[in-house]
Amino acid sequence: MCGIVGYVGGKQAGPILLEGLRRLEYRGYDSAGLAVISPEGRLSTVKEAGKLSQLEAVLQEGMPPGTCGIAHTRWATHGAPNRLNAHPHWSRDRDIALIHNGIIENADVLRAKLSDLGYTFETETDTETVVHLIDEAFRENDTLDDAMLAALEQVEGAYGIAVVSSRDPDKIVVARRGSPLLIGIGKNGENLIGSDASAVIQHTKDVVYLDDGDCTVLTAEGYRVFHMEQGEVQRSVQKIEWDLEAAEKGGYEHFMLKEISEQPESLRNVMRGRLLEETGDARLGGITLSDEELAKIRRIIITACGTSWHAALIGEYMLEELAGIPVEVEYASEFRYRSPVLEEGTLVLAISQSGETADTLAALEEARARGASTMGIVNVVGSSIARKTDFGIYLHAGPEIGVASTKAFTSQIVALALFTLYLGRRRSLSILQGRELVAALQKLPDQVAETLELGPVTRELAAEYGDAQNFLYLGRGYQFPVALEGALKLKEVSYIHAEGYPAAEMKHGPIALIDENMPVVALAPRDSVYSKIVSNIEEVAARSGRILAVVSGDAPELIGKADHVIQVPQTVPALLPVLTTIPLQLLAYYAAIYRERDVDQPRNLAKSVTVE
Ligand code: F6R
Repeated sequence: MCGIVGYVGGKQAGPILLEGLRRLEYRGYDSAGLAVISPEGRLSTVKEAGKLSQLEAVLQEGMPPGTCGIAHTRWATHGAPNRLNAHPHWSRDRDIALIHNGIIENADVLRAKLSDLGYTFETETDTETVVHLIDEAFRENDTLDDAMLAALEQVEGAYGIAVVSSRDPDKIVVARRGSPLLIGIGKNGENLIGSDASAVIQHTKDVVYLDDGDCTVLTAEGYRVFHMEQGEVQRSVQKIEWDLEAAEKGGYEHFMLKEISEQPESLRNVMRGRLLEETGDARLGGITLSDEELAKIRRIIITACGTSWHAALIGEYMLEELAGIPVEVEYASEFRYRSPVLEEGTLVLAISQSGETADTLAALEEARARGASTMGIVNVVGSSIARKTDFGIYLHAGPEIGVASTKAFTSQIVALALFTLYLGRRRSLSILQGRELVAALQKLPDQVAETLELGPVTRELAAEYGDAQNFLYLGRGYQFPVALEGALKLKEVSYIHAEGYPAAEMKHGPIALIDENMPVVALAPRDSVYSKIVSNIEEVAARSGRILAVVSGDAPELIGKADHVIQVPQTVPALLPVLTTIPLQLLAYYAAIYRERDVDQPRNLAKSVTVE
């Protein structure tokens, strides 16, 4: 949510910043801008409302010259998404420019204080207060770094901030509290900053993830990191584990379709080196607890948001069924604001693709404060959640850039299956059951590849049903969270209203909605509740609902009842969600294409929700 990139070095900063913004646009796309310091020491700022293409069009007429600059792509929180509110924001003499991701919570107090000092405000943003505070602090400080530090002492809230100034040129000054930032260590007298690795990957794979409270001064020659309370600190250099190609569309029309298609590979990656055939077990190097410590876990609370929350629900079913441990699933945004009872022996597991979701991070902090041990299932290496949990499992799914989460979801389910195996084998899961799950996991990537062949079928269905106003998704047991996820995907990218429901709940209300205009996606693979969902399908058919049934293997019981039968391969019930999700992802994608929606940049959304 909001992308930040900065460059200082020997090359022209403008084209590098623009390239960085292109890679970051998935984090926010309602306006964009950049600021560059010219060789004569003049600060030029260009910004535009709308998608990045609007800014690009303006910059085609002339890119501001200079080798040091910062750029931002915005997802509006305070103030309308117009040109004035776009970042960078500048000081009254236009000699300081600042970009910001996060929320300044005491912006109103700061505004009043700065107004008393004679500052006038051009924008409706919370961010503008910070640039004026730095301006004010420059009266008593000689360097931009000192001025920024003095200003931040008055700021409450969450921020990732980057500042440049013609009063102290050739450097970028950066601070982080709550919003992700990293340094990209360039090779030939250049350095970069980014809100995520995709901003810098074209130039370097060596990065330093900043911690909360860290500030850095970046020049062409190097960087210094100092913590606001601890003074100068050393932060380790880490390697980005994926290549530039992973962050590009690679011939696909959209990132969403690319990422759906990548799932056989992303699933191989989450399992690589982790399956133990012989003992029916999992090897999880990231779980640093001893068997004795594991035995002390008596209850697990899984916390997450959105799609990751749906994966958490599947994890609840798996862990309870196969590892015999009580599990509760909580929306992170709810967990953090109530008073959860975390008695001894509670493990809090946070699931997050980005590792930066503000609510999940806050829930985790709440759990830590209450003394719970914490675990993460996270995709982005080095992200805040990955670093704040005691131990965890990385997904290794590669960058997920499509705003609608797809490959991360199926990898999360598999990571949860690995954890279930690991925990289960140290509790009640027999070696035979363990081996059965391992064998099913091994087959899964090829089965996903087979399922992806449903592309043309789902495309036809999307054209047939793409004009519907509403969709209902029904599932039971392991398929209930899949129904929720299918409905969420359709809503997000096609803007068709859709609801996911436990199939048996339908008769307690939603059945009133069923008529010949209501497409109902019924998840009916062969599992222990197959006959029950068949009955639910009959209830829909009796009321003329249009039924799209997702089945595994043959489903003769549905002949004459379902209007369409979509077949996926058979696997164990716990892993069926991976396969039944694939046609729902494709249906959502093709429905969005049919309705001519912007699949990778759906309205009002942005990847990685780093604000509350
Ligand atoms: C839906 C989607 C969101 C995210 C949610 C959590 O397609 O992408 O619902 O799943 O914002 O994000 P992470 O997993 O990054 O914590």
